[in-house]
Amino acid sequence: MAIAIPAIYRSTVGKKAVMAVTGGILVLYLVAHMVGNLKIFYGAEDFNHYAHWLRTMGEPAVPYRTVLTLIEVVLVVAIVLHMWSAVSLARRASAARPVKYRSKRKSHAQGYATRTMRYGGVIIAFYVVWHLLDLTFFVVNPLGADDTPYQRMVADFDPSRWYITVWYVVALLLVGLHLHHGIWSAFQTLGLRGPRSDRLLRGLAGTVAALVTLGFIAVPVSITFGWVS
Ligand code: HEM
Repeated sequence: MAIAIPAIYRSTVGKKAVMAVTGGILVLYLVAHMVGNLKIFYGAEDFNHYAHWLRTMGEPAVPYRTVLTLIEVVLVVAIVLHMWSAVSLARRASAARPVKYRSKRKSHAQGYATRTMRYGGVIIAFYVVWHLLDLTFFVVNPLGADDTPYQRMVADFDPSRWYITVWYVVALLLVGLHLHHGIWSAFQTLGLRGPRSDRLLRGLAGTVAALVTLGFIAVPVSITFGWVS
């Protein structure tokens, strides 16, 4: 049975709106996640307490892990819709221009930002899978489920595992570039950009992307350099 997809979603504008709204949800999650991770600088007790709170949020009004599960469902739906719209917009762009350009100069659709978003997005998707296997399911973490979240994090970015830190930092820089261009494009899609607001919105996109990236990078780097142990 075919799934009925609303006409608005089938339009290019509809897909871009879905990208902007789901991207916005993911940015909010990343800001909250980055701020939460910084608790590592308060020490083991605070960080583990925070990790425990993530699961007990809303108790006793709702059972253990209810709010976290709801957040996870929203995240999965947002990620799937974000990637689905991206793929279908990319297909549409190439279908609109089936004959390759003869000129070496790239069109906008093949330009730097588009390629960074596409390939960056694919690497970020791989990173998220690795990251879940690492710190959510502990498959690639040197410690297992019996240890505390703090210990798992410190063991993960131990100086002897500097290459894991490098992999995280590279992925996080790509997340930063993706956020920068993504937030900026979302402003365009949502019709917020104009001659007067351009500078302000560009500054806002750059600042959010830089803060999120630096905040995330601070954690693995501090552990590898021994500032957190
Ligand atoms: C240095 C950077 C990062 C560190 C140290 C880190 C750390 C963690 C930790 C410790 C958890 C497990 C939380 C828990 O269940 O107690 C987690 C979960 C998660 N992280 Fe990260 N994270 C980082 C960056 C990112 C980035 C950039 C993304 C997305 C692009 C991301 C997406 C997720 C997701 C989706 C989960 C699962 C959430 C859940 O199901 O509860 N993380 N992260």
